[in-house]
Amino acid sequence: MSLFIKKPLEQLMAQSGGDSSKGLKRTLGPMNLIALGIGAIIGAGLFVRTAAAAGDAAGPAVVISYIVAGIGCAFAGLCYAEFASMIPIAGSAYAYAYVTMGEFIAWIIGWALVLEYALASATVSIAWSEYLNSLLGGRIPYEWCHSPWETSLNGVSGIVNLPAILILFLLTLLLIKGTQESATVNSIIVVVKVSIVILFIALGWGFINETNYTPFTIPGDMAGHEPWNRHGWGGILGGAGIVFFAFIGFDAVSTAAQEAKNPKRDMPIGILGSLVICTVLFVLFSHVLTGLANWQEFKVAGKEASVAYAIKNYMPGFEWLSTLITVAILAGFSSVILVMLMGQSRVFYSMSKDGLVPPVFSELHPTFRTPHKANWILLVFVSLFGGFVPGSVAGDLTSFGTLFAFVLVCAGIWVMRVKNPTAVRPFKTPLVPLIPILGILVCSALILSLDYKTQLMALGWLLFGLVIYFLYSKKNSVLRKEK
Ligand code: ALA
Repeated sequence: MSLFIKKPLEQLMAQSGGDSSKGLKRTLGPMNLIALGIGAIIGAGLFVRTAAAAGDAAGPAVVISYIVAGIGCAFAGLCYAEFASMIPIAGSAYAYAYVTMGEFIAWIIGWALVLEYALASATVSIAWSEYLNSLLGGRIPYEWCHSPWETSLNGVSGIVNLPAILILFLLTLLLIKGTQESATVNSIIVVVKVSIVILFIALGWGFINETNYTPFTIPGDMAGHEPWNRHGWGGILGGAGIVFFAFIGFDAVSTAAQEAKNPKRDMPIGILGSLVICTVLFVLFSHVLTGLANWQEFKVAGKEASVAYAIKNYMPGFEWLSTLITVAILAGFSSVILVMLMGQSRVFYSMSKDGLVPPVFSELHPTFRTPHKANWILLVFVSLFGGFVPGSVAGDLTSFGTLFAFVLVCAGIWVMRVKNPTAVRPFKTPLVPLIPILGILVCSALILSLDYKTQLMALGWLLFGLVIYFLYSKKNSVLRKEK
């Protein structure tokens, strides 16, 4: 039987609308979905990587980097919105690929999504640990809040990142309790998070020092900035690769399609709404941050906890804001982890229903009706990364997995329009195939801008996935057994 065996669209739809008393509960409305998107989007990317992109690659032109990365995400977001309205089923890009490009590609995409969702939660748990330690005045001993691959300036080696594991554990408990409960906590955090970003923009605007914007891009003759993607216009692209992480998450909305009350209408609203709101906030935020402090400071003193640094040093009288912002950032990181962990368990849920991963991943809790066993297994896996791997490594792998999924989703929209032109599409991506092609091009360019070690590790992960596919999934595929 062909590797590219496809799940018929009708069968998938029947599955999504199946017995609602046994499946995942439909509890989420449009505002919940937008909040889910913003919950997953605003996090370590904005609060940590903006400064990194300014200091390492783009200078004050990081504002343009945000626009470039935002455009790439918009192309992919439009394609996600069409799929999510058309195939409102848990599992997101994995499920879309199963109908359009067949089981094998679906498996690869599902496997890449593990890099996205599981490793994004690990990355953000590591950032959470950093900010917690900063809030506690550095009281957590270095070895207990860093991975074994990291060493402090005075030679202490990390052992395990315990706060990262702790936050992952607490949020797993919440997720098991229920989707509605998790969505409520998420919505509260989102209000706090967005308010603090707006407050920073509004109050910081008055303290902007225009001279920090000149020169606008990093001059090519500066030491350490020789590579093409570390100065000038190339640096803007390099910066876009770095801040891309900040956008990851709008697609997580699509993993909750089976829990949406009215998925056909609300999925596009959730995906595109959260993307637009966040892009506007990102551009304004990065403009203020690089206007307060000079980009060169983000290479040294202002590198860690950059937002608190800028407030303390350039907004006299607003020191209180810096503590408040750190607390809000901690809460904000928690919601990113929450939505990402939820997204991952829903992708496994779908893959398990299809027989591609073991049935334990789709067993629902008798009372809470959440995939509780999947949540526990995921906790062990994600904790290994959160506890024992540096944040930058996990972060770059996350970007790879996400971009890879974006490319396949864009391709899938095009394939579906050609092969199945008459299917009902409550939301239609405009200008097909132009938008999917542009999405593929921009996302592929961003994959190429990642460093080669990340590319090698991600390829290793994909090869490992192939071994599992041929040893387990292909033999247990429900679709194959039915044929
Ligand atoms: N976009 C998410 C963040 O920045 C992953 O934390």
